[in-house]
Amino acid sequence: MQQTKMNPQNISVTDFMLSRRSVLIKNMNAPGPDNSELETILTIATRVPDHRKLEPWRLLVLQGDARRDFGEKLAAVKAKKEDVTAIQVSIEKDCFMRAPLVIVVIASPVEHKTPEVEQILSAGAVCQNINIAAGSLGYASQWVTGWSCLDTDAQRAIGLSENEFVAGYLYIGSSDEKPQDRQRPDLESVATHWSGNKT
Ligand SMILES: Cc1cc2nc3c(=O)[nH]c(=O)nc-3n(C[C@H](O)[C@H](O)[C@H](O)COP(=O)(O)O)c2cc1C
Repeated sequence: MQQTKMNPQNISVTDFMLSRRSVLIKNMNAPGPDNSELETILTIATRVPDHRKLEPWRLLVLQGDARRDFGEKLAAVKAKKEDVTAIQVSIEKDCFMRAPLVIVVIASPVEHKTPEVEQILSAGAVCQNINIAAGSLGYASQWVTGWSCLDTDAQRAIGLSENEFVAGYLYIGSSDEKPQDRQRPDLESVATHWSGNKT
């Protein structure tokens, strides 16, 4: 039976969800999750709403040298683009070294009665579940994207099929700093009670 580390504040799920925040990658460092914690994160990641159980996503785990290898594959694609500097290519190479663990969430929608948009929303849920799982174990995380997510050449270089794209790079590490909260939506303007279709 997996040992579950309590979240650092030992708070309720509700209080955790009310206070959790993403942490900027530049504020992350080692250590990352151990093997058992990684398994927990991956299990929670894939425990998402998924209409008709299509599993329209898959995950790639980048740790250790695999982070550099993955970055080098994308850097080689970037180097062939127009107006790209040597510095940009070098940044790309080291991009995934910035945190001890990166989980690449790949959306894999298929032709099906379940609309593509629903399948992609399920991939988004995988991304956010990773944020929540990592935070619940006391780790910092951030969901980021970038040029390579929707670039066809990049997709081929990292072995994606034609129907696939990167829904998110989930960076996970440790951090001493608790980020300040960001401004949150005004609930009254984004959530209203339906009272008929009045304009
Ligand atoms: C699909 C998606 C892509 C994002 N890409 C980036 C990104 O490339 N760089 C970035 O700084 N934040 C990006 N963000 C924003 C952060 O992941 C996060 O929303 C923000 O830091 C605040 O999150 P929090 O409410 O968890 O604190 C992205 C968010 C989403 C949903």
